Amino acid sequence: MDTKIISVVGEKGGIGKTTLNIILASNLFYAKQQKIVLLDADNPQYSIYKKRNREMEMLDAEERAGLELYPIEPVTVQNLQDAILKYYGQVDYIILDLPGSLNVEMVKGLMYVEHVFVPFDHDELEIDSTSHFYFTLKNNFLDNEERVLKSIHLFFNKYKLVKRNKFAVLRQQFKEAGIPMMTSVVKDKTIYKERYRNTLYPIPEHKERGEKDIKHFFEEVSQLTK
Ligand SMILES: Nc1ncnc2c1ncn2[C@@H]1O[C@H](COP(=O)(O)OP(=O)(O)OP(=O)(O)O)[C@@H](O)[C@H]1O
Ligand SMILES: [Mg+2]
Repeated sequence: MDTKIISVVGEKGGIGKTTLNIILASNLFYAKQQKIVLLDADNPQYSIYKKRNREMEMLDAEERAGLELYPIEPVTVQNLQDAILKYYGQVDYIILDLPGSLNVEMVKGLMYVEHVFVPFDHDELEIDSTSHFYFTLKNNFLDNEERVLKSIHLFFNKYKLVKRNKFAVLRQQFKEAGIPMMTSVVKDKTIYKERYRNTLYPIPEHKERGEKDIKHFFEEVSQLTK
């Protein structure tokens, strides 16, 4: 099996990395029937791993027995490579959730990732921090033959329709700086942090039909990792 290793990753805290790694994982597994594993490298928080355990505790024994789940594994810098080797060739996607700073976990984790998706929102200061992050990745991982990174994609998370002009200006600035951006966006929606950020089911397709809805983001991720 041709395994792709992907991650929604970024240098800023609270920008939606974990939220989108979970939503993406659940979409690929439950809606697209892809075999996946989600590796939680956000040591020592392990918020995804703990969340799955909490979600399971909410179910009764019968509900639990009927569930088909994708695996979620907490990993450390020391056992990350073993975890990747365990699943490599066995799944379609290995999805890695990393911490929000360029620390040893992130650098070690990025050595294995093939496609990264970098979220950011409309704050004008973000153009500096996000472009700095992009060029750090490009110089150290993309333009380095010893690394496996194949592509870096930036996208707007917490996109607000009312601020679409601000987002358009930012998009133009990134274009001028030579930084590749995804055409799809992820909107700012409460359901993404409440009911649909879960590891047990996907976002129902009929809920997301609009031009700027998250299904376009899923499709673009699938295209870009083909
Ligand atoms: N598209 C979205 N719409 C609404 N809320 C969102 C969206 N994406 C993320 N959030 C919210 O933003 C906050 C931060 O998200 P999250 O924990 O996923 O970020 P993170 O980048 O993983 O943070 P950290 O750096 O701490 O790991 C959470 O409250 C989450 O629910
Ligand atoms: Mg996180």
